[in-house]
Amino acid sequence: MSKINAAITGVGGYVPDYILDNNELSTLVDTSDEWITQRVGIKERRILKDKNKATSDMAVIAIQQVLEKTGTSPEEVDLLICPTITADMGFPSTSNIIGDKLGLKNAFNFDLSAACSGFIYGLEVSGRMIGSGAYKKVILVGADKMSSITDYTDRATCPLFGDGAGAVLIEPTKEEVGIMDRILGFDGSGREFLHMKAGGSLNPPSHETIDRKEHFVYQEGKTVFKAAVSIMSDIAVDIMKRNKISPDELAWLVPHQANLRIIEAVARRMGIKREQVMINIQRYGNTTAATIPLCLWEYEKQLKKGDNLILTAFGAGFTWGSILLKWAYDPK
Ligand code: UT7
Repeated sequence: MSKINAAITGVGGYVPDYILDNNELSTLVDTSDEWITQRVGIKERRILKDKNKATSDMAVIAIQQVLEKTGTSPEEVDLLICPTITADMGFPSTSNIIGDKLGLKNAFNFDLSAACSGFIYGLEVSGRMIGSGAYKKVILVGADKMSSITDYTDRATCPLFGDGAGAVLIEPTKEEVGIMDRILGFDGSGREFLHMKAGGSLNPPSHETIDRKEHFVYQEGKTVFKAAVSIMSDIAVDIMKRNKISPDELAWLVPHQANLRIIEAVARRMGIKREQVMINIQRYGNTTAATIPLCLWEYEKQLKKGDNLILTAFGAGFTWGSILLKWAYDPK
């Protein structure tokens, strides 16, 4: 039996309309456009302002776009995976809610919690499910409403995050395209540097946890920064080396968008040029599980069949992952 590869065959994305720029942010906390631009590279981020809308609503729009672009009906989808750290509710899963809103009738679904590495973890799982031969049309949607867990009185974290969703359709193929290689890992001791203290079973919500502002992202930025640069670049370089891909042969690096300085350092260590790197952090900030698919969504028209892409991410956990993807289709 010939090997089944798993390929991305369509991409969709959604970001909310509301733009929170650095100047408006400077009215909320003691910061400046200059500091945020120089230290992080973000100019603006999108915020889902409607109080009645949640992560699932962004995910649904992104998925509808993929289904439409690929001529896929909701009934054909047999698996839906949603990496997110900002679930609509404690339970049921956000993918369950998305599936209901989309009218998926023949799928099962689950959420995946790997923070900023969520899309990479999800892509690996999707690829293996397709590779098993049991699934034919998998939707993977990275979606996060980061504004729901961001403290807009904390200047160390509030400039970093934005809301958005990016979705891909993954299908089997006998061609030599799709997921070619991967490196994934974690170091659970890193959790002390990036986490949300309350809201889980360790510290259930209480008046005290709210007073202590424990339902927001907590981060020790410098430690996370150093680990992100070294691990994201190490795994991306390893993937290049073991697949014998020279810097010139790499069409695109698709890095998680947490800090422009991290992205530039990773590109430098890989020996590639800035023109080979997908970057949209300046407009969207860090949308956690959505950064990588939102990059694919925005650069889709520039991608050609056979292009070598390396996706690489690092996030809370710590978690990390890098995937070598051979792009499966030309611009339509
Ligand atoms: O996506 C998941 C993984 N997350 C990441 O990869 C994020 C990794 N970390 C980072 O990107 C960076 O560490 C940050 C952007 C979070 C922070 O940048 P930094 O260069 O590490 O700054 P810092 O936290 O060391 O702070 C440097 C200075 C401090 O002032 P002093 O103590 O030197 O006087 C901060 O108080 O900058 C100050 N500062 C700010 N100043 C103006 C911190 N935040 C701000 C701000 N505006 N928003």
